[in-house]
Amino acid sequence: MVDRERLKAVLLHGARQFPPVEQLLQRISKKRPHDRVDASVWEDQYNSGHWDFLTGMTEAARHAIVAEWRERLKPGGSVLEIGCGTGLLCRAMRRAGYERYVGVDISQTAIVRAEAELADAQTRFIAGDAATVALEERFDIIVINEALNYFVGPGAFLRRLHGSLQPGGVLLISMAECNLRDGLAKLAIWREVLPDHAVIEEVSLQREIWPIWTIRALKPL
Ligand SMILES: C[S@@+](CC[C@H](N)C(=O)[O-])C[C@H]1O[C@@H](n2cnc3c(N)ncnc32)[C@H](O)[C@@H]1O
Repeated sequence: MVDRERLKAVLLHGARQFPPVEQLLQRISKKRPHDRVDASVWEDQYNSGHWDFLTGMTEAARHAIVAEWRERLKPGGSVLEIGCGTGLLCRAMRRAGYERYVGVDISQTAIVRAEAELADAQTRFIAGDAATVALEERFDIIVINEALNYFVGPGAFLRRLHGSLQPGGVLLISMAECNLRDGLAKLAIWREVLPDHAVIEEVSLQREIWPIWTIRALKPL
């Protein structure tokens, strides 16, 4: 079983490196229904502890990378986080400090937890669908940490978000690939998104076999 999964991870690596391999695998793999789920599902999942694993050591590795890149690219700058959940990344980023942080999440439960621990004069949370929420301000960095796949039309969604970036602003995006089918779905999202952006930095982080996280810092073209 483990060997079969290892082989699938190697196939996914091949798909990432060679577009014809990806095209072949995308053609023969069973398409996944879209990840988007109703707000009520997120409430149930946060209340049942489904997402508690996000506070673990493994997830802390990707949080550390995103927090460090944020500080190097826009030291002390303003941050918008889409799909901020309970504010785990906000907690990691505030150690280095920021001028202002706004976190948006569709789950009221997650936002209430984040607010209770982290809200202050520089730190604000909004409960709502980031696809429709009105954002008046502009930010130096927009972070989408394990959430882009929940938006229908991720390419168009990111293009709209460009309007919330300061000139010279940067997007930080992390997406996990949890199995071959999930990985192919995430590769398709990257293929949709990358033509509109220049890649400033990118890295893959792998935990034994799965997940494989891809983290990219992007500049709108
Ligand atoms: C997999 S969790 C990741 C949480 C956190 N960013 C992290 O990396 O630990 C995805 C998050 O996206 C949020 N989300 C999903 N769809 C959303 C939407 N349309 N608008 C805002 N947040 C959304 C969920 O409520 C959830 O908190």
